[in-house]
Amino acid sequence: MTEYRLLLLPGDGIGPEVMREARRVLAWLSRHRGHECHLAEDLVGGAAIDVHGVPITDAVIAAARAADAVLFGAVGGPQWRHLGFDRRPEIAILRLRQDLGLFANLRPATVLDPLVDASTLKPEVVRGLDLMIVRESTGGIYFGEPRGIETLPDGSKRGINTEVYTTHEIERVGRVAADLARLRSRRLASVEKSNVMESGLLWRETITSLIARDYPDLTLEHVLADNCAMQLVRNPRQFDVIVTSNLFGDLLSDLASMCTGSLGMLPSATLGAPDAQGRRPALYEPIHGSAPDIAGKGIANPMAQILSLAMALRYSLNLPEDAALIEAACTSVLANGLRTADIMAPGCARIGTSVMGDAILRELDKSLA
Ligand code: IPM
Ligand code: MG
Repeated sequence: MTEYRLLLLPGDGIGPEVMREARRVLAWLSRHRGHECHLAEDLVGGAAIDVHGVPITDAVIAAARAADAVLFGAVGGPQWRHLGFDRRPEIAILRLRQDLGLFANLRPATVLDPLVDASTLKPEVVRGLDLMIVRESTGGIYFGEPRGIETLPDGSKRGINTEVYTTHEIERVGRVAADLARLRSRRLASVEKSNVMESGLLWRETITSLIARDYPDLTLEHVLADNCAMQLVRNPRQFDVIVTSNLFGDLLSDLASMCTGSLGMLPSATLGAPDAQGRRPALYEPIHGSAPDIAGKGIANPMAQILSLAMALRYSLNLPEDAALIEAACTSVLANGLRTADIMAPGCARIGTSVMGDAILRELDKSLA
């Protein structure tokens, strides 16, 4: 019997709605796959602000550290926007990344065959797309010092953020990306702005020597970030694994996600460094955000949350077969023509969040037969 501890943090907006469906899949796994799964659930983001006055409590950070994996929903919404920069709900995810040392953010952009028409790009450009962006997620301009807003002698102000990377930070995320590339097509693209930024130059040099030294079997390509954005729209399939900084990864992963046309489908994983026992802290979340405009309507697509759970099974719990079951169930549901509003297509049946959950569970049941 496999035993594991998961912390569920549904958060705000559609977070709780899609997490409910992921919970049902977890219950199915316990019932039919012999997992003993210890679930805890807590508040983050605006939901935590409302109850505790802060976007995430120290107790939740400690619980996240103790769990085998964290399954995160989404945070934020207009009702907390007046609180100001230092109390915004987004701090919850930034603190989790930083406090747990979750430095490697894996963001796949995959086009499943039944959804090839969901993209605004031509089907022949995106068919079969299977891209993995590895975004550094505890460094760079998101956390660099100095930062702040200062008042100048003439009374005007100056806003400051600092892009800063050390060799160690670049190497460790480079290794995660290179290890992934080895399991895939052995092609790695490293993305920076070494033509303008010293931190980008160090990035390029560090990745070059890492690959030459420890991964000579990989083909490494260097791409400037602006060119990468252009190439992703022109011909996204030229890339397999992309490794890049926090800010460029934030931008390029949104861009790549829209090559697939279905934000509601895309999961992500954020991994830390393994400890002496090989346990690595990890957080799994859909990339779609809290979508306040559709929250509470029961129409959100739960697949990205459920596929995030599948990633947790694969990368943290060493249950790749269970991950594959879930992924196959999602693909079958789509092949059967069932669609939530975000991926609706002519000739398909439009269903809501919980009916989508039902359909996935039905496909999982079929897999037992
Ligand atoms: C993301 C989000 C976050 C980020 C926000 C919510 C802080 O855009 O995960 O991509 O910028 O990292
Ligand atoms: Mg983002």
